[in-house]
Amino acid sequence: MDSKVAITLEHLTKTYIEGDREHAVLNDVHASIARGASVAIRGRSGSGKSTLLNLIAGIDVPDRGSVVVDGTDVTALDERRRTLFRRRHIGFVYQAFNLIPTLSVADNVRLVLELNRVTGAKAEHRIDELLDAVDLLKRKQSRPDVLSGGEQQRVAVARALAHRPSLILADEPTGNLDDDAAGKVLAVLERLLRQTGGTLLIATHSDRVARSCDLTLALSGGRLDRQETA
Ligand SMILES: Nc1ncnc2c1ncn2[C@@H]1O[C@H](COP(=O)(O)OP(=O)(O)OP(=O)(O)O)[C@@H](O)[C@H]1O
Ligand SMILES: [Mg+2]
Repeated sequence: MDSKVAITLEHLTKTYIEGDREHAVLNDVHASIARGASVAIRGRSGSGKSTLLNLIAGIDVPDRGSVVVDGTDVTALDERRRTLFRRRHIGFVYQAFNLIPTLSVADNVRLVLELNRVTGAKAEHRIDELLDAVDLLKRKQSRPDVLSGGEQQRVAVARALAHRPSLILADEPTGNLDDDAAGKVLAVLERLLRQTGGTLLIATHSDRVARSCDLTLALSGGRLDRQETA
C-alpha cells in the first residue's frame, strides 16, 4: 500500500435501472486522492456526487470497480465488515445534519466515541474538547431540535470527527445554511481537521467551499475530472 494515497478509485461504475431505462451515474471512474488533501466534488444536481460519496463510504456498492481507502478494498468487504470499517475510519456529515433527536448534543457525540470504545473520563474530556472547538460547550445538554441549523451542523461536524477518522466525507454540509452559518461550519470543520488530520471529500454547489479546498473533482456524464481550483 502507498501510504501517501488515501483513496484509490478504479473502474468505478454505478448504473441505476428504472423500468427499461439504464442510467449510468458513474462510468469507469478513476481517481487517486492524496492523504491529507481536501477535495471538492462538484457537478450538477443528479451528476452522482452523493452516489460517489456513498460508494466510498461503503454505504452502497458499485456494479464494477473498486474503492480502496487507506489500503483496504472496501468493495471486497461484506456488509458487516464495511460497517465496522466505516465506524472506525470514516466520518460522515450530511446536508440534513442527521443528529439523533432523542439524544442530547453530548450524547450524539458520545455515541460515536462508544462505537470506537472510548468511554468514561476519556470520553467526557473528548466531548468537552470537541464541543468547545465548535463553540457549543454551553449547549452540551440541549436536544438538537432547539439548536439552529448552523449549530446542529457544528454538532454534526464534532460528531463526525470525534474518533479522528482518517477520511471525512461531507455531502453538501452547508447546503441548508445561510452564508454566515455556512462560514462558521466550514471554519470549525477546518479547525477540527487541523487537530485530527485526515482527508476531506466535500460534495458542494458552493464556490466558496470549493475555493477552500486543495483540489476540485468535477462529475459530468459519469466521468470524474480533475480541475484546478479557481
Ligand atoms: N436508488 C436510486 N435508484 C434510482 N436512481 C437513483 C438512485 N439513487 C440515485 N439515483 C439517480 O442517480 C443520479 C445521481 O444521483 P445523486 O444523488 O448521486 O446526485 P447528486 O450529484 O448528489 O445530486 P444533488 O446535487 O441533487 O444532491 C440521479 O439521476 C438520481 O436520480
Ligand atoms: Mg447529492
